[in-house]
This record gives sequence, C-alpha cells and structure tokens, in this order.
Amino acid sequence: MRIQKIQPGETYNFNIIIGDQHSDFSEYAGPKSEYIKHRVANDKGLTLLTDGDTITMFQVLKKEEKTEHELIENARVAAHTIHKTLRDLDASSVSLVNNGVSSKQMLACLEGLWLTNYSFEKYFTKHDVPPFTLETTAVSCDKVTETDLVHLTIALEGTFFTRDLVNEPLSYLTATKLAEEMQEKSKEAGYTIEVFNKKKIESLRMGGLLAVNKGSIDPPTFSILEWKPENAINEKPVVLVGKGVVYDTGGLSLKPTADSMDYMKCDMGGAAAVAGAIYTISKARLPVHVIGLVPATDNRPDGNAYVPGDVIEMYDGSTVEVLNTDAEGRMILADALSYAKQYDPELVIELSTLTGSAHAAVGKYAIVGMGNANPATMDALKTSGFNTFERIAEFPFWDDFSELLKSDIADQKNIGGKYAGAITAGKFLEKFTDYPYIHLDIAGPSFNKAQDNYRGKGGSGVGTRLLFDFFRNRTS
Ligand code: BES
Ligand code: ZN
Ligand code: ZN
Repeated sequence: MRIQKIQPGETYNFNIIIGDQHSDFSEYAGPKSEYIKHRVANDKGLTLLTDGDTITMFQVLKKEEKTEHELIENARVAAHTIHKTLRDLDASSVSLVNNGVSSKQMLACLEGLWLTNYSFEKYFTKHDVPPFTLETTAVSCDKVTETDLVHLTIALEGTFFTRDLVNEPLSYLTATKLAEEMQEKSKEAGYTIEVFNKKKIESLRMGGLLAVNKGSIDPPTFSILEWKPENAINEKPVVLVGKGVVYDTGGLSLKPTADSMDYMKCDMGGAAAVAGAIYTISKARLPVHVIGLVPATDNRPDGNAYVPGDVIEMYDGSTVEVLNTDAEGRMILADALSYAKQYDPELVIELSTLTGSAHAAVGKYAIVGMGNANPATMDALKTSGFNTFERIAEFPFWDDFSELLKSDIADQKNIGGKYAGAITAGKFLEKFTDYPYIHLDIAGPSFNKAQDNYRGKGGSGVGTRLLFDFFRNRTS
C-alpha cells in the first residue's frame, strides 16, 4: 500500500478527477468538455474518457448533502464504486486529482478506495476471483499534507490488522495466538506488551476470566499493551479494554447453531479494535500515554465448564451469580476493568461485542455507547464517530438499571432480564470501575455477514479508525 503526493512531472495511466457539480472539468476533458459538462449537469456519477493509454475518470461529489460528515461519507461511498471500475480495468496505480472539493473529501476518497481494496486471502489455495490489485495512489491536492497521508496509511494498516484478527477463525486464533499476533505487531509499531499466562492469571485470582475458561481446553491470556512516549500530554493514562472472546458458543447456555453461532469468531472484535488502536497511536507516535488490556479465552461447554447457578469470586473480590454462561463477555471484562484501577486512569474506554440487545437496537449502523465520563469526553468520542462514520448512539446510563442485576445470593447476577439488555450489561461492568468510564458495544457493526460497501464483508475493523481519530484530536 503506497499513498503519496503526485510528484512534479509524474504521469499515470489511470486518473480520477474529483469535483462537485460546480467544478469546471474542461481542463481535463479536452475536446470532450461539452460531454463531461452534460454528464455533470445531469448527475451521471462516474464518467470515463480514454485517450491512448490514458484513462481519465470524472467523479462528481454532490454538494447538497446536509452535513459535512455526510459529504465525507459520500466520498468514501463514491470511492467504493470507483474501486469496482479500477478493478475491472486491472488498475494498480492511480492518481486522484482535486478539482474543487475539500481536502477532507479527497482523504475520504482515498480511505474508501483502500478500505474497499482489503480482502482476507489467507485460506484460499486457489483464486476464482483474483484479489484486489490496488498498489499505489498518488494525490494531487495542495491542502493534503504529508502528515495527513502518513496518518491515513497508519489508520488503514491498523484497520486491516483489526479486520485480519476478526476474520481469523478459532482454528488459528486461540487466546494464545491472539496475544502472539499482538506481540508480533508491537515490533513494527513500537508499543510494549506483556502477556500473562494461565498460571499468572490464577495467581492474580482473575475469577471471571478463569470461570469462562473452565470449559476450554485452551488456556486464557491477559495482555497488557502500552504506549508511553516521553512527550505524553496526559499525566494519567487512558486505558482501552477489549473483549477477547476468541469464540463464543454460549458455553452450557449453548447458542443455537444456524444464525447465532456461525460468526462467533468475531467475539474478539473489541480486543482487535484495541490492538488496532494501540497500533495506530504508537505507529503515529502520538504524544499520549495509552494502555490496552485484553482478557482472552474461548467460551465452550465441557466437563468442567462453569454452569448457571455458579457463584464466582471476581478479581476485585466481589461475587457474581452466573445465570447464563452466554453472558461471558462481562465476566472477563469485569476483571480487566478492576485491573485497570491500579493505573489511576484519566479515562477508560472499553469495546466489546457484548450484547445481542445492542445489535437488535441499532443493527449494523451504530456502536451503542454509554458511560459516566464527563459529557465533553463522550461528545469528543461521538464527534470522532461522525468523522469516521463509526457512529455512536448514546444510551442512558441511569442507576435505576442496576436494580435488574440484583442477585438473591451474590453481589450481582450476570444477566439483567428481558429488557434493556445492552444497558444492564454496561451497568454490570460499571460496578468494577472507579474512574471515568465509557462502554462501547460494537456487537452490531463489528462483523458483516454480507458486503457492506467499503466496510466490506466479514470483520469491518470498527473501532480502530474511531479511536485513532479521537486520540489525534486530543493531541493536536
Ligand atoms: N457475544 C455475544 C453477543 C453478540 C451478539 C455479539 C451478536 C455479536 C453479535 C454475547 O456474549 C452474548 O451472548 N450475549 C448475550 C447476553 C445475554 C445472555 C444476557 C445476548 O446478548 O444474548
Ligand atoms: Zn455470549
Ligand atoms: Zn460473547
């Protein structure tokens, strides 16, 4: 993947001229100016002109969109369509020329092209359809800086890392392998990582993580990723926590096979987003101290599996009555959130494919967010949600919801009942915190069973671009 500025004198065989309805394309259309003008006036979308070896494409982005965010999203979506044409033409290197749109729209076009270009090829032994072929994009736009392009490249690489992890099946990506993959990436990005093995987790008495792991033949892991540059602007770290359930069968409260278990390799989407975010932050050397915590295990039924009715002593010493072994995410996250207290964090953001309830409420269209951090922090995160189109729908986080978690025999039970399932999950987790806390339930947008525009099919990589944007804004 090469994303660069056009160097003077450089020419490309495939050129995409990007403007809006008011742009004058005659400079690029030559004798075909009238034709292009007509196409633009009639909103005909992408138009191609050929001249010898050179193919020029004209893309009009509509200006009448309601908000800047919609304008930018439309640029990504337009780029997804352009990618299909580039693929048909076997174009591997293309230039993008700004002819009257904003630098943000240009960057969004690049982002849409490259996010579309992703495919997960590892397990094909032969190709019916060849993999996508884009190798270089060169941009002509005065206002796009070198830093913009470096950051875009990093955001894309981080998102692809996240997607790869989510797309990996359990047959490869056990909890141990997940930790190893994060270790491998640390060498390139520069963050440090420590991985606790089962023995260490036992000695720490992380009861939630160990309970979920009881039905598994593979050991759990608990990974601590850290990026602590000398010029960090924050005194107290920001901690990111990600749910690393490498496969969720539901445990003894087994999920029905057909539609609810088939894609449960995606249940480490939160962990993958945290790994991707720490990758981007450290690769871009952002001046911010960030720690990532990733508890990981699979959730399976077995002879020794935890059962409904069990009472578990958690890492913080509190007790939980397990009434559904499929509510396992909160068991392992609770221990990670308690563990985070020792850092005296300024803020903790936790990401998880936590509830079917969040998925049912917003579909693939949003992250369900809630928390008790100050409203300005939540607003900044929501703004990043709009910037990246990884939008956050904020749910209430009133204390009343905790009533639903009262247990007859322990401090809390691990399910809240029929109503407000996404919120009771968040309230359950809040009990393990003593710092400003934001919970992001990504169950909806984490995995696409069908192609979803530039977000692709399979792991969408949600969370990584969101967090990178959030930290870039905090440090600029
Ligand atoms: N991993 C699932 C949630 C999920 C659902 C993720 C759909 C991605 C897509 C989670 O562990 C789970 O099973 N949650 C239960 C909780 C319930 C038993 C309280 C759910 O939402 O049904
Ligand atoms: Zn579950
Ligand atoms: Zn789960």
